[in-house]
Amino acid sequence: MRWAFEVEFAPFRDDVALNNKEAHVPDPNPAAMAFMLSRRSRPAKSLQRPIPSNAELLPILTAAGRTPDHGKLEPWRFIVLQSAAMDRLAALARERGEALGYDGEKTEKGAAQFVTGELAVVVVEAQKPSEKVPAIEQIYSAGAACLALLNAALASGWGANWLSGWPSHDRNFVETGLGLSAQERVAGIIHIGTEKAAPPERPRPDLDAITTWVDA
Ligand SMILES: Cc1cc2nc3c(=O)[nH]c(=O)nc-3n(C[C@H](O)[C@H](O)[C@H](O)COP(=O)(O)O)c2cc1C
Repeated sequence: MRWAFEVEFAPFRDDVALNNKEAHVPDPNPAAMAFMLSRRSRPAKSLQRPIPSNAELLPILTAAGRTPDHGKLEPWRFIVLQSAAMDRLAALARERGEALGYDGEKTEKGAAQFVTGELAVVVVEAQKPSEKVPAIEQIYSAGAACLALLNAALASGWGANWLSGWPSHDRNFVETGLGLSAQERVAGIIHIGTEKAAPPERPRPDLDAITTWVDA
């Protein structure tokens, strides 16, 4: 299948290949751009098996590891949650919901992603001490790692969804359930699987409203 964008970019490709060395003109990657212009998440609850094998997940994790990070601190790490871990975490979320006095609905909402999930990668924000790189930049980088992982999974043909939920912010849950240290936080939980049905597109931002062009 050829995307409309590919057709649009195609005439430039040969010129670029010929001229690139001399003129340093842009060298477009139409397939990558077509992906970026059309990418969208798939709701986690609509994801089912098949899921990526460990071997199929490796390039996705490798792509996420190419996330920009000021000072090469690598302020993130990954935890791959497989089926048995999902069951354990679903039970822990229910236990924590009850201990925290949440009503049944809130408790179940927090547990749901682990009840239905088949495979997910937790992106852990793991800040490193640095005099040069402010904490906020390390937090941004962890968020960027979440998007890189999400996009790599989508680009590999899987459905994927970035979730959080109250358990991901509950210290007891993340420390006992996921093994995080006291300084670490969950940046995102990226569920990966096969979508049952394509969701409708959601509204996208009005570029004029969010973009300011400054020329002086
Ligand atoms: C930090 C973060 C946390 C999120 N947590 C949830 C969540 O817990 N539940 C949910 O339904 N959506 C959550 N979302 C939104 C979903 O990822 C949503 O599907 C996504 O924003 C759709 O974007 P896309 O179609 O552009 O990929 C979260 C998004 C972000 C960035």
